[in-house]
Amino acid sequence: MDAKVIKELKILISAKYPIIYILSWEEERVESVLKKIASELCKKIYFWSCSTGIVANESKTKNINLNTMEPVKAIKFFMDSEENAVFVFKDFHPFLKNEVVVRFLRDAAKEAVNSRKSFVIVSPALEIPLELSKEITILDFPLPDYDDLECILDNLLINSKEKNDFKIELKNEDKELLIKAALGLTYTEAENVFARAIVENKKLDREDIELIIKEKQQIIRKSGILEYLEIKEDINNIGGLDVLKNWIKKRTRAFTKEARDFGLPEPKGILLLGVQGCGKSLCAKAIAALWKLPLLRLDVGAIFGKYVGESEANIRKTISITESISPAILWIDELEKAFGGIKSGGDSGTSLRVFGTFLTWLQEKTKPVFVIATSNDITDLPPELVRKGRFDEIFFVDLPNTTERADIFKIHLKKRNKNPEKFDLLKLASSTQGFSGAEIEQVVISSMYDAFDENRDLEFDDLMNNIKKTVPLSITAAEKINWLREWAKNRAVFASSRG
Ligand SMILES: Nc1ncnc2c1ncn2[C@@H]1O[C@H](COP(=O)(O)OP(=O)(O)O)[C@@H](O)[C@H]1O
Ligand SMILES: [Mg+2]
Repeated sequence: MDAKVIKELKILISAKYPIIYILSWEEERVESVLKKIASELCKKIYFWSCSTGIVANESKTKNINLNTMEPVKAIKFFMDSEENAVFVFKDFHPFLKNEVVVRFLRDAAKEAVNSRKSFVIVSPALEIPLELSKEITILDFPLPDYDDLECILDNLLINSKEKNDFKIELKNEDKELLIKAALGLTYTEAENVFARAIVENKKLDREDIELIIKEKQQIIRKSGILEYLEIKEDINNIGGLDVLKNWIKKRTRAFTKEARDFGLPEPKGILLLGVQGCGKSLCAKAIAALWKLPLLRLDVGAIFGKYVGESEANIRKTISITESISPAILWIDELEKAFGGIKSGGDSGTSLRVFGTFLTWLQEKTKPVFVIATSNDITDLPPELVRKGRFDEIFFVDLPNTTERADIFKIHLKKRNKNPEKFDLLKLASSTQGFSGAEIEQVVISSMYDAFDENRDLEFDDLMNNIKKTVPLSITAAEKINWLREWAKNRAVFASSRG
């Protein structure tokens, strides 16, 4: 367990990296790893927290070192020490806002290079002031993988047999499903949710998967960057876009073992580019529903944090959470908001690094994560992102043609308990040249309000009236849409066969 991170940490400590910043929610797990490393490297280990000060690990009693509770005094203690030791500072990040602490830490870092001491910060949040960015090396603690989780579960099963008088029978295939469902949780979270599942009805089987997934949705939501969406979008409720829909349907079983055995590679991802309101987001949701994969929507705004290194850490965290629950779909809605204007942007250093990390991952990822990126505007996107080959396919989602518009009217009328056969769909379609799907939906809703307000059923004329009142985006943004269409002509596949 943890072999890779132990190796990396060992190297950092032996190579005298002055300050190591371990990013993890799992303090206990990190502590035990650090203890192991210290003992392997024949070093002593000390722990600091603001409630205990610096205490040696051996002390069994709850020791408190009053003299070193204050951060500056603790740093001084570290500087004065001539021991061959690792000093672990727990939850030190709030104190990095204090300029005196920062100054002392810089001095300490310089001093530590020529000593046998290491300064290790363990914290769930990454908040590094600019002044310290050169002295600090960041280490992400990976989430437990399948084998780690199996180990946790096995321990729990043994324990529950010893402690309680009941024995849990667990079928191998159920066990596999439970462990897979728990991927993405930390050690403690996984342990807690397994334990809860056992306690609730004194057994453990595939019915508990739902509990685990619920728990996981909660936790992922708390990460603040990813949103775990629960989707019931039916692909048949998308009007038109036949080429794209066929592509999606053909890959329904793309992430199954059968597909691997057949020799197929896993699909990497698609870029849906096109006119606003024409069904790109809708398609992203429909793919997840049809392929029965978890859909994680990335809130790009939340990635960019104000501290040095925070944004980079956030994108790495996003990748790691997504990979840990793969096979999964990562949906980046409105890509231009994330990576638009990178070349010209003010803080382009950070954006570029985040973008670079993302691009490398996109290219080299080995875990089955399908990326769906959607965009209304590629003018500002860095060209290397929209180059062919990054994605399996770039689809251009244009305004719906006449047949497609009739289809969209039908879908939205039906969705709202209206019988589409009562309306002249072709007339509606021919009167809505240049309307997007979203605008058609809006016409239906507004018309229903008109009818409802007058206590009668929806009529054809209500729809026609609202059509006349609408100025579609395609008129106000004609130039931009034409430009996009031209761009797409030899670079993208049209999502609809334009019949
Ligand atoms: N092709 C379509 N078929 C059915 N409804 C559509 C279609 N395109 C858009 N809509 C309606 O408009 C809404 C907004 O579309 P959305 O998928 O968010 O557009 P985009 O992401 O392309 O800007 C959808 O939720 C849906 O109700
Ligand atoms: Mg959208």
